[in-house]
Amino acid sequence: MTPTTRIGNPALIAPSLLAADFANLQRDLDLINRSEADYLHFDVMDGVFVPNISFGFPLLDAVRQHCRKPIDVHLMITQPDRYLDAFAEGGAAVIHVHLEACPHLHRTLTRIRELGCRAGVALNPHTPVAGLEDVLEQIDVVLLMSVNPGFGGQSFIPRTIQKVSQLKQMLLANQSVALIEVDGGVGPDNASALLSAGADILVAGSSVFGADDPLNAIRQLKNSPQPMVA
Ligand code: DX5
Ligand code: ZN
Repeated sequence: MTPTTRIGNPALIAPSLLAADFANLQRDLDLINRSEADYLHFDVMDGVFVPNISFGFPLLDAVRQHCRKPIDVHLMITQPDRYLDAFAEGGAAVIHVHLEACPHLHRTLTRIRELGCRAGVALNPHTPVAGLEDVLEQIDVVLLMSVNPGFGGQSFIPRTIQKVSQLKQMLLANQSVALIEVDGGVGPDNASALLSAGADILVAGSSVFGADDPLNAIRQLKNSPQPMVA
């Protein structure tokens, strides 16, 4: 049996701003501030890397004024290197770049750390975790996409649970302490399975902001049962 570092610890929760009500942004940020959330997840989409455009620096600036949680920036953009400095200055605590968008991933991750942020790498559902093996020392967080990125509210891809286990084994085998984050379609139906497989951070958009009681939704996710992994 392989021990996991998650056993006994509550999950880390990152509500996704994409699912907030932008006409009531301060209200929704206040809610996150009062919640047991650990991060605020901030999705940046460029309409090229993904087929949708979300938001960028002006919103990050506004969010930073009100948000008391560390900001977890997910860059779904091509050539992310061009914007790392600006996102670091904009208040990102974690910056995730997509492996598929980075021909010089080692350099990109090194730069993110130099800027004082935690370095994250996101993988699309079809991208194998083995592609990370040679840069594990440069990674603080691996963000596994459990939907094809670009939109909130999509259905969770079940194969992700197996991918979390594979990644966990790879991290343990390499003495890596990188965290595993899962993003897309995450909610009460799959949280326990993800955490049991080795996930540390759950991103949740619709399942938090679409809930009748978002504070309770965050609390429930955070305290999802985590049966022992064999
Ligand atoms: C999808 C984004 C996700 C999204 C998650 O491309 O990266 O962070 O906001 O939203 P839900 O939880 O609704 O799938
Ligand atoms: Zn995201």
